[in-house]
Amino acid sequence: MGLPGVSRYGLPYHRRVRVMERLEWLYAIGDGPGANRIGYSPEEDAAHELARTWMEEAGLRVEVDEAGNLFGHADVSDPSGRRVWTGSHLDTVPEGGKFDGALGVVAAIEAVERTGRGSVVVWRDEERGCAGSRARVVRGELPDAFLELHIEQGPRLADAGAPLGIVTGIAGVMRGSVVLEGREGHAGTTPMGVRDDALVKAARKILRIEETARTIEDAVATVGQVTVEPGAANVIPARVELTVDARAPDIERCDRLLEVLGFRPTYRVDPSQMSSELRDVLRAELEGRGLPVVDLTSGAGHDAGVLATAGVPSAMLFVRSLNGGISHSPDELSSEDDVELAVDVLTAALARL
Ligand code: GLV
Ligand code: MN
Ligand code: MN
Repeated sequence: MGLPGVSRYGLPYHRRVRVMERLEWLYAIGDGPGANRIGYSPEEDAAHELARTWMEEAGLRVEVDEAGNLFGHADVSDPSGRRVWTGSHLDTVPEGGKFDGALGVVAAIEAVERTGRGSVVVWRDEERGCAGSRARVVRGELPDAFLELHIEQGPRLADAGAPLGIVTGIAGVMRGSVVLEGREGHAGTTPMGVRDDALVKAARKILRIEETARTIEDAVATVGQVTVEPGAANVIPARVELTVDARAPDIERCDRLLEVLGFRPTYRVDPSQMSSELRDVLRAELEGRGLPVVDLTSGAGHDAGVLATAGVPSAMLFVRSLNGGISHSPDELSSEDDVELAVDVLTAALARL
């Protein structure tokens, strides 16, 4: 700390504390371990309520759209006439971390309050498929620019010794399910040779998915949910449903991945590119602070990807993850110094737009 009341990167000390405290308040909603605020649950509602009170305290004009997305507008009429939104999401995966989504919302409230410009946006239900931002795209009332601050959720910034990074593009995400059928039977009386066990088939399928994804560079595929029917210890499984989440950095590899995995996605967001103009704004802020400029792609999906695909110039600033980059876990972590720096850069970038 330098000046009394001013922390290392110039954020007034009480504001730095407030950012960290707000992350704790959000984290305390729902039962632990970790953050448990599934999209459209009472816990996500409670988080939106809390964010709404913070927006009101900041003097922002609050608005909720048909999908439940929350907005806090600073300026009824920005002199530039440009509509700039910044924000992220407040829903989480089960047993999620403190920073994923929440950091981008808390930081956005600071940035919009401090600059008196732009709007905070809190998207609904990001984790299960960006329901809020997609609904908004369908409705078609979109801004001229979207900035999303987010924890990196990977180890690359830490490996590079950089507190912040600029996202160049977001991987495509494809999700769907695979069903395997078998024949129900008695676990004690059906000889091994005559069984048709759906879960054994599913186990082989999972292994094939894993091996196949490895054959395409930078592609990933995950089976994260398995539903077994009828689901009793003494009954041979008759039906198994697997979820498949498959991702790749460009459209060509997305198509190839779908082909080799052989599943039909019910949800698909194509890979997206971040706006070069907005990236330049972020780059100028990092360079102006003497910080290393690290460009990186995002393997995680984000609302910024949904908006970019819909033609909204979008950019993302990543904050270094600690603990090896772990995310979607209670062990997710960023340092207070890095968070403060990120809030400061977001604020300055918003002021420039
Ligand atoms: C969102 O976190 C996703 O990438 O699944
Ligand atoms: Mn997120
Ligand atoms: Mn997430």
